[in-house]
Amino acid sequence: MTDKSGCDEKKVEDDATCARNAEKMSGGPTVTVYPSLWCPEGKAAHRFRVRDDVSAGAKHAETENSTDGIARQSVQCRCSSHNQVPRYYRKVSAAQTSGLILGIESSCDETAAAVVRAGQQVYSNVLASQIALHANYGGVVPELASREHLRNIVPVVRQAIEQSGFTLRDLQAIAVTEGPGLAGALLVGITYAKALAFGLNIPLIGVNHLEGHIHAVLMEARQRADAPMELPLLALVVSGGHTHLYLAKQSRQGAWSYQNVGRTVDDAAGEAYDKVAKLLGLGYPGGPWIDALASRGNPRAVPFQFNPIKPRAHRPGISLPNKKASYPEHSGPSFDFSFSGIKTAVLRYIETHAMKPAIDRRRAALAELSDPKPADAAALCDAETLDLLASFQYAVVGNLERQAFAASEAFGARGIVVSGGVAANRELRQRLQAEADRRGLPIAFPSLALSTDNAAMIAAAAWPKLLACQFADDSLVATPQLRLG
Ligand code: KG4
Ligand code: ZN
Repeated sequence: MTDKSGCDEKKVEDDATCARNAEKMSGGPTVTVYPSLWCPEGKAAHRFRVRDDVSAGAKHAETENSTDGIARQSVQCRCSSHNQVPRYYRKVSAAQTSGLILGIESSCDETAAAVVRAGQQVYSNVLASQIALHANYGGVVPELASREHLRNIVPVVRQAIEQSGFTLRDLQAIAVTEGPGLAGALLVGITYAKALAFGLNIPLIGVNHLEGHIHAVLMEARQRADAPMELPLLALVVSGGHTHLYLAKQSRQGAWSYQNVGRTVDDAAGEAYDKVAKLLGLGYPGGPWIDALASRGNPRAVPFQFNPIKPRAHRPGISLPNKKASYPEHSGPSFDFSFSGIKTAVLRYIETHAMKPAIDRRRAALAELSDPKPADAAALCDAETLDLLASFQYAVVGNLERQAFAASEAFGARGIVVSGGVAANRELRQRLQAEADRRGLPIAFPSLALSTDNAAMIAAAAWPKLLACQFADDSLVATPQLRLG
């Protein structure tokens, strides 16, 4: 059986077939059918068929193309279980599109929206932080986070649009964090982004939160007009929920790909900061507190050790291009991390040095203040506490540094990008910069504002996806354990 688009039902082999036939029929430009718009099952019976009214669709597409640079045509799934009519889009070049993307981020405890042009120019970057809410509990309470996102999402997006000076109609795409993160929190952003994209009839782009952190650095490097770093890059993503090493590459078409070459086997580095700060009666999140106090102590007072981590037995797709590279004594060929041990070591130290009463006094004194800040804690910490904090940070940063440079050497990285909340840490920046300089390796960090969660990074990461037509469809769901690479 042959339908009007010229596709033989039995012979449809790949996604380009219908597009080519549609092109023949409409006499229009090449239409790219994006695979994610196909039924997830990917069975032949689920393939899409260009609708009978394809020529009318093409005409419609031409009209729309003149206003926003992205053409749309209707396609229909043959499968009876899919009654929605997905859209697909024609590829556009960077020059053909205004590139205005609204980014939405709601993966954890910040509701954020930003309008960014072409992955570079930030017109607005709005953030509603929930830190004060969760600080009362010493960590993020998922259910409270979801409710707070629900309250904030509309005003935050509205403010981002207003501050940008554009209107919703000017947008080319909506980008949203699809994971990893808290399920309920992600769901708020995704549902809102889906509805907005549907209402505006513009593409929806799903972005991995960790990829967003990497693109915060790349975006700011472009803003500074830095010479582009040579590829591949080693990306150290170090945040409250993740500690990952990725080898990042870009295809000729501009699409980025990532190979996960190291990760934490237990706690993330930021999580260790948060837990140690809590143990010592400091505020939440712990990173900025320890960062501010550690410089007052002796980093060699407590000799914390990181035990070697067994290499993972099976690492598909991982090969070491630089086989002659010498690895640090304890890391072997494993570039993984483990931070739960040092947290336990701090706890033991507190117990064996009878620090508990002083910690309780500090906690109570800080609780008296309406908005306690790290500077308030300095006067409440004795030398032993400051030494402990300095030693903890010295050891954590040392471990991140050793693993990152060992991996960069082993995989032949031409530059290093450090991102995520812990990238705000001053000692981390200083030591990694110094080591990179020593090796003559370019290294880049995000500004302090873009180290922690924000939506500009989500919009920036979506830009190459917009150019590559990597769009999400109605089936986009929150994926709390979403992996990158
Ligand atoms: O990227 P992010 O904002 O959220 C996640 O995706 O997790 O990172 C938050 C984490 C928290 O654990 C926080 O303690 C840590 O980043 N952090 C810091 C600093 N600022 C934030 N850690 C060390 N030093 C800092 N200055
Ligand atoms: Zn983050």
